[in-house]
Amino acid sequence: MAEEFDTDKYPHINQGLAGIVAFSTTKSFIDGQKGELIYAGYTIETLAENASFEEVCFLLWNDRLPNQQELDDLTRKLQQSRSLPEPVLNYIRDTSDTAEPMSVLRTAVSMLADSHEVDTDKAKVFRINKAISITAKMPTIIAAFDRIRNGKDIIEPLDSKSTAFNFLYMLNGEEPGEQAEKTMDLCLILHAEHGMNASTFTGRAICSTEADMFSAVTGSIGALKGPLHGGANQAVMNMLLEIEDKGDDPVEYIKERLAGKEKVMGFGHRVYKTMDPRARLLRKESKRLSKETGHEELYNWSEAILETMKSEKDIDPNVDFFSATVYYSMGIKPDLYTCIFAASRVSGWTGHYIEQAENNRLVRPRALYTGEKNLDWVPVEDR
Ligand code: SDX
Repeated sequence: MAEEFDTDKYPHINQGLAGIVAFSTTKSFIDGQKGELIYAGYTIETLAENASFEEVCFLLWNDRLPNQQELDDLTRKLQQSRSLPEPVLNYIRDTSDTAEPMSVLRTAVSMLADSHEVDTDKAKVFRINKAISITAKMPTIIAAFDRIRNGKDIIEPLDSKSTAFNFLYMLNGEEPGEQAEKTMDLCLILHAEHGMNASTFTGRAICSTEADMFSAVTGSIGALKGPLHGGANQAVMNMLLEIEDKGDDPVEYIKERLAGKEKVMGFGHRVYKTMDPRARLLRKESKRLSKETGHEELYNWSEAILETMKSEKDIDPNVDFFSATVYYSMGIKPDLYTCIFAASRVSGWTGHYIEQAENNRLVRPRALYTGEKNLDWVPVEDR
């Protein structure tokens, strides 16, 4: 039965849907007061210490950890699915010099739908296979685009090794060392899932119309791109590089921004009222890597910015703050940072897609109409 709009029932608007619980999920839990994050039962610290990205993917798609055989099977399927279809490679080869990496990723993922059969089978195993296929290809798209725009040949993925290893190998054209692979794997684990963030919400809303998984992931990439969400990591690095270029004092730079009522990227969060636990883990990694690679100054500035934000605004860093210097120390270009976020978060997006599809109801909230009503029609020549 159609629902009547009752203004008493909808007395106010929750701007930004703040505090609205729209779905139930077994994928992750956040305690914003304590700064705790759990993926399907396991704390982020436990996963950071013990898991691989592949194990986290399995966890987010199945709500349990894999046994050895299941992990081997998933790893093999990911390895076999990394290569891109020719039309996608052709598109990447044809992108303009000024193309934005996230826009290329969004278009390329959308194109992947072409090489898949239309979604008729609704069994979970088929949905997981689709999630594997998309997850496997996203690092290949990012690396291929970066090589093409730098006038280099695209490197084919290996039919062995981890997602983290393959991504760095395809990006740089040489096999990464154990430590670099481990750091990238950690970054992929830390970005994999985070409840009802804007991009996951977008994906679930698309899924709720019974649209296919490619449409949902494409929409999620679009939502992640913005600087208030995943785009913040690139903005953090640009801020640090601007401070370096101008020879500014980082503390003064931040104070000026705050005085001008500007947002400082990489700080604040709708849910966390303390430090994001992922930022805690990435802070350690940033410190170690910055020291090892001669970028200690950038790390020290980050710490000075953190202190200033705490003392001036009592606002803590989120996941995007220290990830920026981690990637920079690994020699990765700032405009790829949000793509790496997406290459990880696709595991959470697709986990939520599967969850939504299994217990679906169309997402259809209301808007409070604030316009005029019953206006008289005025012919165009009289307006
Ligand atoms: C991610 O949702 C998720 O889980 C996202 C994410 C994930 O894993 O999926 O964690 C990843 O997107 C991290 C967030 C990345 N974005 C940024 O770093 C951009 C900078 N941060 C902000 O713009 C802001 O904190 C948001 C967008 C993250 C949260 O916005 P809210 O909840 O709508 O909060 P708000 O903008 O209303 O801010 C509340 C107050 C305001 O002050 P008052 O007007 O009340 O005095 O806090 C201030 C804001 O001005 N504030 C900031 C600030 N963040 C909040 N002031 C300066 N700099 C900031 N970064």
